[in-house]
Amino acid sequence: MRLWGGRFEGGPADALTRLSVSVQFDWRLAPYDLLASRAHARVLNRAGLLDDDELSRMIGALDDLERACVSGDFRPTVADEDVHTALERGLLERLGALGGKLRAGRSRNDQVATDLRLYLRDHVRHIVSRLVELETALMSQAEKHTETAAPGMTHLQHAQPVAFGHQLLAHVHAFARDIDRLRDWDRRAAVSPLGAGALAGSSLPLDPQTVAEELGFGSAAPNSMDAVADRDFAAEFLFCAAMIGVHLSRLGEEIVLWASQEFRWIEMDDAYSTGSSIMPQKKNPDVAELARGKSGRLIGALTTLLTVLKGLPLTYNRDLQEDKEPVFDAVDTLLLVLPAVAGLVATMRVNTARLTASAPDGFALATDLAELLVRKGVPFRDAHEAVGHLVVWCQVHDKTLDGVTDEELAKVSPHFTPDSRDVLNVPGALAARKAHGGTAPDRVRDQLISLREVVDAQ
Ligand code: ARG
Repeated sequence: MRLWGGRFEGGPADALTRLSVSVQFDWRLAPYDLLASRAHARVLNRAGLLDDDELSRMIGALDDLERACVSGDFRPTVADEDVHTALERGLLERLGALGGKLRAGRSRNDQVATDLRLYLRDHVRHIVSRLVELETALMSQAEKHTETAAPGMTHLQHAQPVAFGHQLLAHVHAFARDIDRLRDWDRRAAVSPLGAGALAGSSLPLDPQTVAEELGFGSAAPNSMDAVADRDFAAEFLFCAAMIGVHLSRLGEEIVLWASQEFRWIEMDDAYSTGSSIMPQKKNPDVAELARGKSGRLIGALTTLLTVLKGLPLTYNRDLQEDKEPVFDAVDTLLLVLPAVAGLVATMRVNTARLTASAPDGFALATDLAELLVRKGVPFRDAHEAVGHLVVWCQVHDKTLDGVTDEELAKVSPHFTPDSRDVLNVPGALAARKAHGGTAPDRVRDQLISLREVVDAQ
C-alpha cells in the first residue's frame, strides 16, 4: 500500500523499493507520529472537516493502533515504505474509508520533521538525566579528594600539584556546559513544522499554533518552506552529542592512563573492567576505551548530516531521509556510554597514597620557589632563571628541590636563603592557590557547593 499510487501505472522496481524504504529504522518514530496524528485529527475537527463522531472514531482507532504497536500485534512490513505509510495502513485496517481523511492538509514532509523534533526533544531529556548521573559520580569522588594532592599536568608532564578533586570537577564543568547547550538547543528545537504541508501551507482552515501548543512546542514555524527544509535542529543536536562524545573521550583517556601500571592512580572495580583471553593477570579499561572510541561515531554522525544538508535546494528533498540514522545512532550511543562511564567513575578506587607521594615529582614546586622570590622583590624573569639553574643543579646531583643544603642554595643563586625551603611543601602549595578558580582545598569545596546547585537545577 503506497501513499502515492494514483498517477502511476506499474508498481515500483524492486531496486527502487529497496533503496527507498526507511521503515526498518524510522519505525521508532511511531509513538510520535501517532501523537501528531491525534493533534491533527482534532484540528480537522475544529476546521469542520471531521464531525464529532468521526473524530471520536479516529481517536479511538489511533489509540487502538498505539496499543497494537506497543504489544507488537501491529508490525510494519517490508511493503510499508516508511513509518507514516505503515501507520496509515493500520488506520485503514481499523476505520476503512474514514482512515483516509486524516491525511488532509498534511504531508509526510511536515509530518516527518515534526516526528523527529518530538523524538529528539523527548530523548534529549533522557540524555540530560544520564549526564547528571555522571556529574554526580564525579562530584562524589571529588568530595573525597578535595585535599588529595596529585601531579597536575600540562603536555602530560608534571607541572604543578593540584587537588585531585579539582581535576575531577574540571570534567564536571565540561558536562555541565553540555547540559546547558542541550537546554539551549531545546529552546530552538521547540518549533512545530505541522501545518506546513508539503511546503506551502494548506488551503484548509488548519490551526498550526494550536497544534504546536498541543504537542508541547513553544510556537509554530513562521515559514512553511523553512519548516519542511530545516534540519538545523538535528545538526545542532549532533554537535551537542559530538561535544559530549569528545568530553567522554578525554575523560576516558585520562582513566586509561590513571589505571595503567605507570600511573597507578586508580583501581577500577571488577564490575567495570575486563580481562584478557590469554593473559590471566590482565584488568583492562574497556569502558574508558569504548567511551573514547565511540566518540568517533558521534563526530561521524555530525559530519554525515552536515554533508547531506550542504547544497540542498529548498525545500524538502529525499536526501533528508538520511537525517535519521545518524541522529538515532548518536542517541543510542550516548545512552549506552553515559551509564557505563558513570558506573566506572562511581566505583573506581583512588590510590591516595600514590597520588600524594608523586605530587611533588618532576620539580613540580619550582614555580612556588620562583613566586617566593617575586614576593621578595626579585623580577620574575630573574627568579625563573635562578630556579631553572637550581633544577639543573638538582638533576646533575640527583637531588630533589627540598634536599639542597643552605650552602648549596646560596651557591646556585644569592636570591636563595634558608627560608626558601619553606614553600617546598605540597599542602602549602595547594593552599596558596586560594584565589577564585584555584586548586586550594577551600576553593575546591566552594566549587562543589556551587556545582551542586547547578546540577540540582539541571
Ligand atoms: N521517509 C521520508 C523521510 O524520512 C518521509 C518524507 C517523504 N516525503 C516525500 N515527499 N517523499 O524523509
